Amino acid sequence: MKILLVITSSVGCYKALDLIREFQKKSIDFEIIATKNTFEFISPLLLESISRKKIYSELFDLDMEKNIGHIQLARDNTHIVVYPATANIISKFAHGFCDDLALTCMIAANKPINLAPAMNKEMWANPLIQNNVQKLKDLGHHFIGPDNGSLACGEYGSGRLVDPHEILNQIK
Ligand SMILES: Cc1cc2nc3c(=O)[nH]c(=O)nc-3n(C[C@H](O)[C@H](O)[C@H](O)COP(=O)(O)O)c2cc1C
Repeated sequence: MKILLVITSSVGCYKALDLIREFQKKSIDFEIIATKNTFEFISPLLLESISRKKIYSELFDLDMEKNIGHIQLARDNTHIVVYPATANIISKFAHGFCDDLALTCMIAANKPINLAPAMNKEMWANPLIQNNVQKLKDLGHHFIGPDNGSLACGEYGSGRLVDPHEILNQIK
């Protein structure tokens, strides 16, 4: 098993650190892509020191692209997990956008993608988002969560990021 973990800039992205620790405890191999906006919440240094991996984020990376790195990242894994998945990445993915490394790898992937949404309950309930979710499900992609519960914004409802162990259960 080798997982490509894509981290996006939901306020819940700190939980990705726990997911990384779970991978390590279970000796699961992984690579990490983080969107640039994720670094507004967690620093590349923290991600790199916890994971002991290079954190990929730049699409136009001269070193990496010597070997067409974005295609390698998209292919060299058994599972792709977007944890957390913002409304933004879900919607762009559903429409085939490739304007950063995460989306380019997701569109270039040759397997279904596992997405764990995390957002405010009204964002999750918004028909625009629900239509995009349905479109991705119809194409064979998998959604893990969201859970019901208290949200970071202080509201209560559906939109809470599932816990890391749920990701591992689903993948198994
Ligand atoms: C404090 C804060 C918390 C946010 N939390 C979420 C969230 O939980 N879910 C979400 O979809 N967007 C959230 N956003 C908005 C995203 O960060 C924003 O849509 C961003 O453009 C997404 O970029 P990315 O998908 O490339 O990471 C939040 C923004 C801020 C400022």
